Amino acid sequence: MRAQISLDLRTTMSPERVADRVLDACQTARIVHVSAHPQLGLQREFWEAVITRHGLEVSVDEDAATGEPTGALWSDVEFNPAAQNFFRYSSSAQPLHTDGSYISEPPEFVFLICHRAAPIGGATVFVDGDDLFAILDREAPELLQALIHTPLRFAKGSGVVEAPFLLRERDELILRWNYYALDRNLPADIRELTVHLHSLLLDLMTQRRTRRYLLQPGEAVFFSDARVLHGREAFVAQRRGERCLWKGGLSSASALTSSALR
Ligand SMILES: [Fe+2]
Repeated sequence: MRAQISLDLRTTMSPERVADRVLDACQTARIVHVSAHPQLGLQREFWEAVITRHGLEVSVDEDAATGEPTGALWSDVEFNPAAQNFFRYSSSAQPLHTDGSYISEPPEFVFLICHRAAPIGGATVFVDGDDLFAILDREAPELLQALIHTPLRFAKGSGVVEAPFLLRERDELILRWNYYALDRNLPADIRELTVHLHSLLLDLMTQRRTRRYLLQPGEAVFFSDARVLHGREAFVAQRRGERCLWKGGLSSASALTSSALR
């Protein structure tokens, strides 16, 4: 499987065709960057037709305050100067994480569609799981070994999951990480490991050792949530909604394969 693929679909007007190309690419790459038609790509209805094409859409929306799922198809990641305590609405950098850390069966794919880009900054960033493993193996081998053998506990809303930061499944790395969703009562030695990892991941972002996508309106990234870490660089904005990404999820790869063959 490749780390990333870019699809230039700017001349494709059919949402069904876009859906087929994107789902096909998701079978072969962990990150799929899409440039859609310059007018159609600005319309939520167009993207709704894309993501519902194969019936794989799943809600990833949650109440920002409680963390409880809302069941809504779309989750708007929208700058709001009045709600700067929540990453979803803030202009601050968001550390690398997986969305499904505290969900027992998280969606296979998450996507972010750019509706409005920040005037300055706000790149969506990724670290590929394989790259991260190599970095840890080279630069922090003791931390890596400890992380492999230590279950962590993530909790948000009513979701609680106990799992290591990374494990191997059928030759693929599966990641589960969100520093801010870690159980507050972890034993001190495990807490120390997580602080070390958090610090290392922040360094990767500040040193720009990430795959960066400064998404423009009509562009999207689809990514395998458990096979990459994703985050956001800080941005500058003034007014509510000045930066706005539409987020959603798609269900499992096996369902995807059978559906794509329909
Ligand atoms: Fe996220």
